[in-house]
Amino acid sequence: MKLSFSCCGITCCGEAKNALDARVSQDHIGAVYDRIAPIYDAWGKLTESHARNRAIELAEIRDGQNILEVAVGTGLAFYEIVKRNPNGSNSGIDLSQGMLARARKRVNRIPKANYSLRVGTAFDLDAEEESVDTLVNNYMFDLIPFEDMDKILKEFKRVLKKGGKLVLVNMTEGERFGSRFYDFVYNVSPRTMGGCRGVKLMERLQQHGFRVEVREYYQQMLFPSEVILAYK
Ligand SMILES: C[S@@+](CC[C@H](N)C(=O)[O-])C[C@H]1O[C@@H](n2cnc3c(N)ncnc32)[C@H](O)[C@@H]1O
Repeated sequence: MKLSFSCCGITCCGEAKNALDARVSQDHIGAVYDRIAPIYDAWGKLTESHARNRAIELAEIRDGQNILEVAVGTGLAFYEIVKRNPNGSNSGIDLSQGMLARARKRVNRIPKANYSLRVGTAFDLDAEEESVDTLVNNYMFDLIPFEDMDKILKEFKRVLKKGGKLVLVNMTEGERFGSRFYDFVYNVSPRTMGGCRGVKLMERLQQHGFRVEVREYYQQMLFPSEVILAYK
């Protein structure tokens, strides 16, 4: 299979000394996103749609699989997952009731949609060991403190089948002209950014034994994202 890394620069494989850490506590994230929910789709489509669409492409969802999306948000990716997997199992969790309500509304547009959506946290997944074919997680690690990321990756590893796929999208550190604009906004007001700052996950995944096959950089409206495809 093709290995495509477009990672570059000094901070390529780990946190840079000046990497920004999370500044909105997980205890507040549900409430923050309940408030953001009504405008999230506009933001998500303008700045994140290229990376999110690529993630769906890389997930190569086939009907009949067991798919889990963690931090499903308003269901922008979950809608595509449920459409592609009418006879499989599609589960989504999120901390925010407001985001989940929008996700339900979106997915219910699919005739006979087969899914479950509920409140839950990435730190404690309600899924059997080695039960998930593909785990999708978009724009969540950019909200997670560095010191807590390993707990979540262990949980992802626990629920994924051997050889199972992990598809991740994160806000990442900017690599091109103008992309540091959002770090500036985050430094002034983390909540304006929904608590998101740029992170790089590839090396951490490798430390957890994931085989990273793709890491791509996307920039849309100056907003920097990384898309990662890895296997357990
Ligand atoms: C920036 S939004 C991304 C939503 C969606 N994945 C997308 O790409 O459109 C971040 C989402 O992560 C959720 N979230 C943050 N921390 C979480 C956690 N520990 N467990 C589950 N969801 C979490 C938030 O509630 C919010 O809906």
